[in-house]
Amino acid sequence: MNNAVAGFSKLSKKEKINWIAKEYFSTPEEALTIIRNYWNSDEKLQQLHDEFIENTITNLYIPLGVAPNFLINGNYKTIPMAIEESSVVAAASKAAKFWSTRGGFKTTIINTEKIGQVHFNFNGDAEKLQSFFQEIKPKFFTETQSITKNMQERGGGILDIQLKDKRNLLENYFQLHAAFETKDSMGANFINSCLEQFASTLKEQFEDSHLFSPDDKLEVIMSILSNYVPHCLVRAEVSCPIEDLQEKHIPNPQKFAERFVQAVQIAEIEPFRAVTHNKGIMNGVDAVVLATGNDFRAIEAGVHAYASKNGQYASLSHAKIENGIFTFWLEIPLALGTVGGLTSLHPLVKLCLEILQKPSATELMEITAVAGLAQNFAALRSLTTTGIQEGHMKMHLNNIINQFEATEEERHLIKTHFKKTTVTHSAVVEFIENLRK
Ligand code: MEV
Repeated sequence: MNNAVAGFSKLSKKEKINWIAKEYFSTPEEALTIIRNYWNSDEKLQQLHDEFIENTITNLYIPLGVAPNFLINGNYKTIPMAIEESSVVAAASKAAKFWSTRGGFKTTIINTEKIGQVHFNFNGDAEKLQSFFQEIKPKFFTETQSITKNMQERGGGILDIQLKDKRNLLENYFQLHAAFETKDSMGANFINSCLEQFASTLKEQFEDSHLFSPDDKLEVIMSILSNYVPHCLVRAEVSCPIEDLQEKHIPNPQKFAERFVQAVQIAEIEPFRAVTHNKGIMNGVDAVVLATGNDFRAIEAGVHAYASKNGQYASLSHAKIENGIFTFWLEIPLALGTVGGLTSLHPLVKLCLEILQKPSATELMEITAVAGLAQNFAALRSLTTTGIQEGHMKMHLNNIINQFEATEEERHLIKTHFKKTTVTHSAVVEFIENLRK
């Protein structure tokens, strides 16, 4: 079957949906019903969502949950989390509660610098290019003044611009490497606008310069921010005397702390484990990033690049036992914003930011890092004690029950039975089938 279509983006929403339903479904009406069921009944709200992207046909819901009782630097926070994985919010809440009676989470902003680059080719004398750059450097600042004015009033702007010679990696390749402070905005538009102006300034000044010979050519390849932000870092930490770790599931806190520290050490030296370990951290991080309308792909790319900064992919978190004190911490780059973008457009994002008491970008970095650390703690605690399947399968039970569209009575019987019996997918399915015989 040839499913190609010309001029799709010019079709109306109704025409697009009809085309999808007819083209891909043997029962188009059923497909149309599903698509329409997920439309918002408030037409204005639906239109808002339609216009976020192109060719919108409907909305894909992801649950928005909250994890309360996060004691962060002495203040309690309830953290909104948008995530589809069943055990994540429960694990976050459990970890929050556990640490709330053991001093809570402590955070530090290490720095908040963002990076953007103009990538260009130059075939002439690099020393001449360097003196040309030094001569015209002030122009990069003056010619971006209309873009930077508001940001400067908020305490941000362009921090520095450097010329980098990268010819050892690629023939004729140079960069303008610029650092920015974007305060409460993520700053992508601001940075990209500055960079495009830098590129124009560079080209114009080069053409007007008498320093170069007619054979010298400068060609801008592209101008774009970097999602690698190793100097936009936050640290989150928990610590307590080892004996304070004791609770129902941790009868021997010394043994627990030692196993926990070793589990982290494994992730520090073994990439196969490190990836899964960090995935657990990102369960918490992404859920907050998504709930607060930030770009989770940018965060993911930046965080994983940071995890490889020493040449091998490694754990983002660390743990130690020193003088009878257990300490567990992580340090991650998080370029987040609390103004601009979706934060002012999406009603639920606004609501989430209200739940977080309208945080600044740095406060959101702290909260997000804490969610990551809490998630990592919960995962390692399960992995080094009971294993994770027990908790996961309990949450999975709900999904299976929903999948089978169980009645209230069936739901009660299933839940009662599996309180005492191990949950496996096949055991639940068999139990439901027996009930229905
Ligand atoms: C599952 O989403 C996350 C874990 O695999 C993380 C980990 O192994 O540390 C439980």
